[in-house]
Amino acid sequence: MKRAAVALAHPNIALSKYWGKRAGGGNVPAVPSLSVTLAGLATTTSVTFDDALEVDALSLNGAPASEGALARATELLDRVREAAGLRARAHVVSMNDFPTASGLASSASGFAALALAAARAAGLDLPADRVADLARRSSASAARSVFGGFVELDGEVARQVAPPGKIPLEVLVCVTTEAPKAVSSRDGMAVTAEKSPYYPGWLETAPRLHGELRAALLAGDLESTCALAERSALAMHASAFAAGVVYVSGATLDALATVRSLRSEGVVAYATMDAGPHLKCLVHARDAARASERLARTPGVLRVIRAVAGEGARILDGKAGARVLDGEAGAGAAGGAVEPRR
Ligand code: DP6
Repeated sequence: MKRAAVALAHPNIALSKYWGKRAGGGNVPAVPSLSVTLAGLATTTSVTFDDALEVDALSLNGAPASEGALARATELLDRVREAAGLRARAHVVSMNDFPTASGLASSASGFAALALAAARAAGLDLPADRVADLARRSSASAARSVFGGFVELDGEVARQVAPPGKIPLEVLVCVTTEAPKAVSSRDGMAVTAEKSPYYPGWLETAPRLHGELRAALLAGDLESTCALAERSALAMHASAFAAGVVYVSGATLDALATVRSLRSEGVVAYATMDAGPHLKCLVHARDAARASERLARTPGVLRVIRAVAGEGARILDGKAGARVLDGEAGAGAAGGAVEPRR
């Protein structure tokens, strides 16, 4: 017997950053974070539980996944099987419509889509917070992609704090390299916690910045929200840097200089970076075309992907889901978008 479901989820960018885990296991973040879920860019994942299969199988962007990726998917599938009282192994097919080296974390959209599709295929009708909990245990930032708009992850709990239209924000993803990231977030945060003299300072600062950012967002204050996001990113990177975990490159710093120069000209533009050298510019929608053009001309910036806030993870049923299960949905490149994709 076969049981199948298809889900779609978008990547997200943290405005206040998650960096570091609580002791005791279970992949619980040490600090609260707040992100924006991005429209236009998506991971689509189908899960088929099949009694005829002997092991789980995972295909990522049209190729068999590495052993490590398969093991992480199996861990999530095991949690779903346990909750549903199911023994069948699963066939998982996952496609990103954005390049893997785009600087957008495909693990966030990937685990959000996998958690939702696997739960549905197993016959579990879980509320979004339970789906987010499943996703969080695999990758904490994935819990935030279950929800749309502006999303908080506080300890084990993810929730939407504001809808996509709360502030007129655009995110300009400045791609600075095609190479995969050198140090994963997981390893980078472990080394930071172990070796950085500034990690205690980060743990003390991050919740305060998060609270201030949350309040600015709820007040509809775009500029303060973006300014606090830049401070959160710089504090996170400073703590990592002091442990020898360096994600920024020369191109990142050149793009940061462009963002600052735009700001000196009166443009509401701020910067954030995750565990890689790609800078994301947070900009008022009215200034996005100008900022995007200037960033695209910055040496070392290969291309700029424009995105706006979008919806949370969802099941694709009916014809859309059937097409994916039939293998018709392909991975298209999203690079170089001129207009933000919605
Ligand atoms: C810098 O969610 O990838 O992007 O829970 O170990 O899988 P794991 O880490 P992950 O870390 C994301 C770190 C970040 C900041 C953020 O997204 O909040």
